[in-house]
Amino acid sequence: MIRGDSTDYDLLDKWTKDFDCQGYKTCEIGVREGLGSKIIMDNVRNNYIHVGVDPYGNLEYQHYDDTGAYTCDYTDDMRDTMLKDFLPYRNQGKFTLCNMTDTKFMNDTEHRHSKFMFVHFDGPHMTKDVMTEAVWFANRSIKGTRFVFDDYKKYNMALIAQVLELYNFKVIESGKNKCLIEKKSDI
Ligand SMILES: C[S@@+](CC[C@H](N)C(=O)[O-])C[C@H]1O[C@@H](n2cnc3c(N)ncnc32)[C@H](O)[C@@H]1O
Repeated sequence: MIRGDSTDYDLLDKWTKDFDCQGYKTCEIGVREGLGSKIIMDNVRNNYIHVGVDPYGNLEYQHYDDTGAYTCDYTDDMRDTMLKDFLPYRNQGKFTLCNMTDTKFMNDTEHRHSKFMFVHFDGPHMTKDVMTEAVWFANRSIKGTRFVFDDYKKYNMALIAQVLELYNFKVIESGKNKCLIEKKSDI
């Protein structure tokens, strides 16, 4: 069974249901066992491909603004199970794993010239990391692009939303853990 480690998956389901990706990519930063990516892939329409970004490898890193560094359970065994679970999606060309950090991904030549229609931010949860990712994807967004931030109360979401206003994103709905913002017009 593909599990998640958060809440508000019902909201992720609602925000992705029949969402038209217009031939652009979708992405999840931080895949873990894969529930977030599964919901996105099962629900959206006209998606070019869904890109999962996750280094796994049980890395020790600082998870939140106000904690120290520690490891979780994000092992390579978890990655291998996820890849097995996603075999049907991979065989249909619907999923690709970038087995690397967000930082490395943002410099990857295969994706840095792409546009993204939907992004689930669920990797590092420090304000500076989420801000860097959000601006990178905002520069690769179009009118209607949706961003969902998990655990948004754990970092300075108000600051991130304010910066994204410069790219015409507006907060649409927030749950206990997830927050949806959408790009209202091209700039
Ligand atoms: C909270 S879990 C993701 C949960 C998943 N999205 C879900 O819905 O079940 C966080 C994931 O982020 C990954 N991660 C940690 N550092 C990362 C980084 N620098 N870039 C991308 N992913 C990272 C971890 O390996 C872990 O799998």
